[in-house]
Amino acid sequence: MTRYMEIVEEMANLIADGSLRPGDPLPSVRTAAAQRKISKGTVVQAYSVLENRRLIEARPQSGFYVRARGPISTQLPRVGLTRPSVVRSDPRERMRETLGDLVGARVTSLGSSFADPSLFPMQSLNKALSAASRQSSYGDTLVDLQLGLPALRRAIAKRYLEMGYVVPMDEIVITCGGMEAISLSLQAVAHPGDLVLIDSPMFFSGLQLLKQLGLNALEMPTDPQDGLDLGVLDRTLSRHKVAACLLMTNCQNPLGFTMPEAKKRELVKLLLRHGVPLVENDVYAELQFDLLKSRAAKAFDANGMVLHCGSFTKCLAPGFKIGWVAAGRFREAIANRKFATTLGTSVPPQAAIAHYLLHNAYDRHLRNLRQQLQERVNQMSGAIASHFPSETRLSRPAGGFVLWIQLPEAVDSFKLFEFAANRDIGIAPGPIFSARRRYRNFIRLNCSHAWSASLDEALQWLGRSAIDMCV
Ligand SMILES: Cc1ncc(COP(=O)(O)O)c(C=O)c1O
Repeated sequence: MTRYMEIVEEMANLIADGSLRPGDPLPSVRTAAAQRKISKGTVVQAYSVLENRRLIEARPQSGFYVRARGPISTQLPRVGLTRPSVVRSDPRERMRETLGDLVGARVTSLGSSFADPSLFPMQSLNKALSAASRQSSYGDTLVDLQLGLPALRRAIAKRYLEMGYVVPMDEIVITCGGMEAISLSLQAVAHPGDLVLIDSPMFFSGLQLLKQLGLNALEMPTDPQDGLDLGVLDRTLSRHKVAACLLMTNCQNPLGFTMPEAKKRELVKLLLRHGVPLVENDVYAELQFDLLKSRAAKAFDANGMVLHCGSFTKCLAPGFKIGWVAAGRFREAIANRKFATTLGTSVPPQAAIAHYLLHNAYDRHLRNLRQQLQERVNQMSGAIASHFPSETRLSRPAGGFVLWIQLPEAVDSFKLFEFAANRDIGIAPGPIFSARRRYRNFIRLNCSHAWSASLDEALQWLGRSAIDMCV
């Protein structure tokens, strides 16, 4: 290592471990050079690298100081697309299949979309599982296999009521997680070769699913603050024959926005006018930070054209893989597909969740969970604002636990992904969120993990690497 880089690493470590704190002065160039018996030029070179990394700042007539943690960036990421864009599905295309594993399995796992498991009430769920198994004989429930356990469907219908709208339990089909709910919904409303309109960027597995089903994607420009432009949507639906829309209206992954209720109402009206069903992916509904949670588009669906897909994976019981679809007029089609593919969903986890919802303090758990997630998202946003290049733009999630980050143009997120993987840091590179492989200089980070020195180090390292890619 060169002499000036030794000084850089030494100073960076002192700042990282808190020995040097924001506002502390660094030795002047002359003093540092004399102390270390090196040239002033070497010190200047080291200090300018530290400045580039945004760890220190020069104050006129005064010297160099450790930078204060910058305020959270107020700049939102730019809208990724300018025009709607059709992408034909190509089953031959291989999209780094191992990526999902890589982003999930790292020591510092910032790439996955699974929340820190310690945030969930596993003990209570295990108790619910054994209590539920004592109460029922699973053989008795085969009659309800296709639609799912009535106790759970009833509990979900009650939850809708608590949110302020009515969804009868007969409309609800229990599925193996939100993913199966989305898959069955798409199969019920679209056929291979059809065009499905999606918001962009969109979560990685959703894009993989479209490809698996042989569906083509129509990617729409999506505002990081409140979603699709309905005027553009209207014109696009007049121009293209679209079989369905697959959208997230609450805590969109990865952008984090929640569409205002008035806009959801308009959306439902507009789609009805064009005769296009909405597959509403609402698996993050319970993770909205705002106490006055926004209802789903489903709340405004008087015609059964919204297939509302929910899940307990993100908010209660990650490994149970229990979700549902409130399928509107497509209930029969969904139930038939469910029967023809898996017959039904495993009963014990359904019984456990139904038991938990009936006997445990679900709302208290959710309040806790949201508060922790919001704190962690804020903390991570602050760290990114201070460690990442100054042009970085950051989403401001209304809920959930991911951040969508726009890095300077010079940063190739796949390269960053590979460098990071070699250091056991998992990140999700932007292009996997687009059928067209846009967002080359974007990444998504999972903020659900408790703050720790190693997390801080990982973020510092990512920020430094992004800065190094810019020079
Ligand atoms: C946006 C989004 N939709 C759906 C899913 C799948 O949900 P589930 O795990 O309940 O199948 C995920 C999981 O990562 C997700 O992030």
